[in-house]
Amino acid sequence: MEDCSSFSNTKEIVITHAVIELTSDFLSRTFDGRVTYTLKARENGVTKVVLDIKHIEILSVPNVAKTSYGDWSEALGGSLVLNLLEPLQKGEKTTVTINFKTTEKCTAVQFLERTQTAGKNYPFCYTQCEPIHCRTMIPVQDSPGVKFTIEYRISVKPPLVAVCAGEYKKERSRVPGYVTYYYVQKVPVPSYLVAFAIGNIESQKIGPRSTLYTEPILLESAAYEFGETESFLRTAEELVTPYFWGKLDILLLPPSFPFGGMENPSLVFLTPTILAGDRSLTSVIAHEIAHSWTGNGVTNATWEHFWLNEGFTVYIERKIIKKLYGIGLADLNALNGIKSLEKAIQVFGEDHNFTKLNPSLEDIDPDDAFSCIPYEKGSIFLRHLESLVGEEVFLDFLKEYFEKYKGRSIVSKDFQSFFASKFQSVEVDWKEWLQGTGMPPVIPDFDVSLLESVNSLYNKWRDPEYVPDPSDIEGWHSEQIVAFLEHVLLAPEPYFLQMGETYSFVYTHNSEIKMKWLLLVIDLRAEEYYEQIKEFLTSMGRMKYVRPLFREMFKKGLSYLANEILTMCQSFYHPTLQVLIQKEFQLTQ
Ligand code: BES
Ligand code: ZN
Repeated sequence: MEDCSSFSNTKEIVITHAVIELTSDFLSRTFDGRVTYTLKARENGVTKVVLDIKHIEILSVPNVAKTSYGDWSEALGGSLVLNLLEPLQKGEKTTVTINFKTTEKCTAVQFLERTQTAGKNYPFCYTQCEPIHCRTMIPVQDSPGVKFTIEYRISVKPPLVAVCAGEYKKERSRVPGYVTYYYVQKVPVPSYLVAFAIGNIESQKIGPRSTLYTEPILLESAAYEFGETESFLRTAEELVTPYFWGKLDILLLPPSFPFGGMENPSLVFLTPTILAGDRSLTSVIAHEIAHSWTGNGVTNATWEHFWLNEGFTVYIERKIIKKLYGIGLADLNALNGIKSLEKAIQVFGEDHNFTKLNPSLEDIDPDDAFSCIPYEKGSIFLRHLESLVGEEVFLDFLKEYFEKYKGRSIVSKDFQSFFASKFQSVEVDWKEWLQGTGMPPVIPDFDVSLLESVNSLYNKWRDPEYVPDPSDIEGWHSEQIVAFLEHVLLAPEPYFLQMGETYSFVYTHNSEIKMKWLLLVIDLRAEEYYEQIKEFLTSMGRMKYVRPLFREMFKKGLSYLANEILTMCQSFYHPTLQVLIQKEFQLTQ
């Protein structure tokens, strides 16, 4: 499958194994690196290996005939062309070793000063390779169509430690002053799942196959918050097939981690913004666990088929929630998702390429296309298919789909053909669903029971004389509060501001509620709460919150406030988020 986000020649030859050796230098924010690949020819007469590479300095490539560089594009970076000493025949293997140094422009790793961590005593760094940042850390076939096993050898200065997305083997001190951590990833994975972190990291067991890793100061609260891990895992196993990645550990990152979570294999990365104190935001964990099957097991072959990763994962995530907490909550998640989908489509414009399940990403940085659309439109599509054949039948079908494609990278057509072969008489307008722009052609029925109290409270609030009481929302799940605030944000009135105190939105530890509340503050230009906006935006760097809040501030004429906050904290944000902010708001810095 042609991957327009990669220059590598994966039709001719593929990486089957990688030994990744990196020595960290926190002062220069770089790594000294060596990577050794085992490669296997897929055709006869292969003479070269083309790897993706961006902002990496190549030092030497021993034992190849010639090293050169291909074209460069801003969206994708460049390519490293290695001419082999001997042509390879189909099935033949070779190894190449590349010695290199990363640069400060590496976007796969965020280096944090000690002051930017939760504990504030030691520096920290972590990777985020999805979608195409791995090429800024190691030269690699940076395409999700290629899967390989990995050995990690990460060298750090004690007392810092390294954790990697694989099985821990041992640690050795060969170079004075450094400890090298050895990990292996035995199940073949695509480059976007290469992952590790370095910091003052401690651990605590949180389940029979799960250990939590994080800064010591966060350990206790996180161990409670993530206590459902094993039950999510078991529920996912009931829904799909047995878990095949061995352990499932969690790495809780410092607050600038730009995502809610990242499904790094056997070591899920999570944001501390889900530490609400009451486990109300843990569906993110269910989501990342679900990726063990959808995404990490069956993988999108190119980023144009990203919905195969995320749409399927959201679908399974909500089935987990349904099994554990009932259809009301699962479908409320979905209904809130529809609201986010509508908003995202509005932001891009309803005819925009990025509103398709299969967008074209030719000459496009996949980070620019990222939104909730593949998640929500994708999962709605699966719910639609489910409604055509029945839930039980569809879940059985997904098990079969999973068994058939496990370990492979596929495109939408593969899923389409498999579905069509199983359900020959079921009519689906694949073209409209996959290529159509804007909202999905059909929205299936969802359980709206948890919205009844939400709607009735909102109706009361339409009366400016309404006197609210904290008991109005007693016993509500935070998803209901989010749904309520969604309503409120449709037509905000100044008297709505009193709900901040009455319903404790001003004091909440729930970041989803806080984010919606702050949107209301911005919409109503409620100056008395601007400090809260500052406090929130300088305390975490999760894109899902940061981008909409700045977007709203710029839209509502609060650019002075937005700029003030950006000056205070932009360097704290992850490099990818910094770029996206600059692009969207045309900032020059
Ligand atoms: N794989 C994604 C995160 C991602 C996507 C990183 C694309 C880089 C590029 C992860 O599984 C995810 O979807 N996270 C969500 C969680 C939510 C849907 C529960 C997030 O970060 O908000
Ligand atoms: Zn995901």
